[in-house]
Amino acid sequence: MNVIGIIGAGKLGTSFGVYLARHGYKVAFFNRTGQKAKAAAELAGGIMVETVEDLLHTCDWIGIATGDDQVGEVVLNLLEARADLEGKLFFHMSGALSSDRLKELAKEGAETASLHPLQSFSDPQTGVELLSSAYFSLEGTEQAKKWLGEMLANLKNPFFVITAAQKSLYHAAASIVSNALVSVVDYGFLLMETAGIDEETARRALMPLIEGSVRNVRDRGTVEGLTGPIVRGDFGTIEGHINAIHAKAPELLDEYKQLARMTLKTAARGQLKDDYKVQTLTRLLKD
Ligand SMILES: NC(=O)c1ccc[n+]([C@@H]2O[C@H](COP(=O)([O-])OP(=O)(O)OC[C@H]3O[C@@H](n4cnc5c(N)ncnc54)[C@H](OP(=O)(O)O)[C@@H]3O)[C@@H](O)[C@H]2O)c1
Repeated sequence: MNVIGIIGAGKLGTSFGVYLARHGYKVAFFNRTGQKAKAAAELAGGIMVETVEDLLHTCDWIGIATGDDQVGEVVLNLLEARADLEGKLFFHMSGALSSDRLKELAKEGAETASLHPLQSFSDPQTGVELLSSAYFSLEGTEQAKKWLGEMLANLKNPFFVITAAQKSLYHAAASIVSNALVSVVDYGFLLMETAGIDEETARRALMPLIEGSVRNVRDRGTVEGLTGPIVRGDFGTIEGHINAIHAKAPELLDEYKQLARMTLKTAARGQLKDDYKVQTLTRLLKD
């Protein structure tokens, strides 16, 4: 059976390798710091290799899960190994980069792709679990998309195909829903702290609310799933928020207004039909 090689045994590389192994694939790891490849191989019941040459010798499919900025360097290392790349498959796992980053390998006859799981991985243990429900995007050469599409079908992971030109905007969207969401929650914690509610209580109390909001989006979409004072057009309540923040923590007011303006846009696209309320809220929330 074909052994799938992973270059970069970090958070995603290790998680993905272990995930593949749990689905019956043989995996081999190469990492700049050898110790990490060894740990990943132990976790996956796979092979650790010490050089890129060995990896090329062992595997016909190689995934690159280094940081985005190291993909170019890995491509050079692979070319320097002077192996026959004809018919081999190389894919990297960056959300932001396209398979163009692997074009020097394609010139040598390799099939190339980018394969990106839309999920956030902070450690291999939870990473493997999160991968089982992850949605992937896939772009690259026709053959690479066919092979990796078959692999994803076998893993039972849903995916969609995109183009190289779409990747930056696609990744901007993915980063916003993941990372900006965290920043919004962080901002909420700050307001709770300003109100004098301790962090632990705030965190425990807000979690079900956050999860409920995410579930509403999943079940009803953003426009119909929106709740709260803005979508109701309760401008007296919003005025109360503004006055309270202004009095206690004026440095937090700009962010409140920016976020509330975004909420107002979503509200005005659907549930909030009253022009007077939209205009009053717009006036209250201007800079
Ligand atoms: N983590 C996520 O949530 C996530 C989600 C989707 C996609 N991705 C993508 O997955 C890729 C990896 O991200 P990550 O978060 O897993 O990063 P990470 O934890 O920092 O892991 C990167 C690994 O690559 C190794 N490495 C760096 N340069 C190398 C080289 N030239 N040769 C061999 N190994 C090398 C590093 O080894 P050293 O320890 O020796 O430096 C490290 O173990 C990125 O392209 C990222 O965009 C990540």
